[in-house]
Amino acid sequence: MSSPIDLNNKDFNELSQLVYNECGINIHKGKLELLKSKIAKRMRITKISSTSLYLQHLKKNKSEITEFIDTVTTNHSFFFRENRGIEAIIEHLSKQNTGTSKNFKLWCAACSTGDEPYSVTVQMLERDLSFSLLATDISHSVLKTAARGIYSVDRVRNVPTPVLHRYFQKGTGKSEGFIRVRKEIQRHIAFKKFNLITDPIPTQSFDVVLCRNVMIYFDNPTTEKVVNKLYQALVPGGLFIIGQAESLLNMDHKFKPATNIPSTHIK
Ligand SMILES: C[S@@+](CC[C@H](N)C(=O)[O-])C[C@H]1O[C@@H](n2cnc3c(N)ncnc32)[C@H](O)[C@@H]1O
Repeated sequence: MSSPIDLNNKDFNELSQLVYNECGINIHKGKLELLKSKIAKRMRITKISSTSLYLQHLKKNKSEITEFIDTVTTNHSFFFRENRGIEAIIEHLSKQNTGTSKNFKLWCAACSTGDEPYSVTVQMLERDLSFSLLATDISHSVLKTAARGIYSVDRVRNVPTPVLHRYFQKGTGKSEGFIRVRKEIQRHIAFKKFNLITDPIPTQSFDVVLCRNVMIYFDNPTTEKVVNKLYQALVPGGLFIIGQAESLLNMDHKFKPATNIPSTHIK
């Protein structure tokens, strides 16, 4: 069913350009109906009744741009997603950890609702590794969920039962069907807002950067820029892990593929 929003070609092009410039997400013509439904949602919330007035409001308000970007991003995530790569990375770090115990620095650069950084954290703790983890996303609403650390139980269905018992609390009564990440897990993670396109890389360097399942929404030139930016954020020999559906082929970059670690490259 098409939405009642009227969006002419000029407005569509302007809006998709704004989204592209702001967060790198490429909205092509096939996404017209989706874009209209996002506009309709924001019009309801802002109580603006005409599309052209809403678009004027959007262009003039940085905070509305943030809210709009929040509605167009795809935040789907779950615990222990594509976990073979994470297991292999943790194995690799354990091998580096002989002699003096190292404090590893990790960065989840599009962490969504927190499922990914918590999954990494519990597995680092299981291996007794010392670390700190920066978890960032462009969307403030997903970061709020991440910091709260409460999820419906279907999100943790891939978590092995002993790990679930050690690091999560099961909700009872009116919280039945939900789990909470234990507080002591949360202290290893700093959640912060970070836009991969417009923000400068953090000043500290990382042993591992995860940037998974976000670059699929970017076009090739944008992905190439992001990949080269994240290269700068790694220590020499640092690991860069991308999503299984993503690739660095046909791109200009200095990473070497990591043999034995799925979807991973080495600086
Ligand atoms: C599909 S989720 C991936 C979550 C997690 N990495 C995983 O693999 O399960 C993509 C996330 O990328 C974020 N995102 C989109 N554009 C971004 C940008 N320019 N900078 C930072 N995060 C962005 C979205 O807000 C969303 O939370």
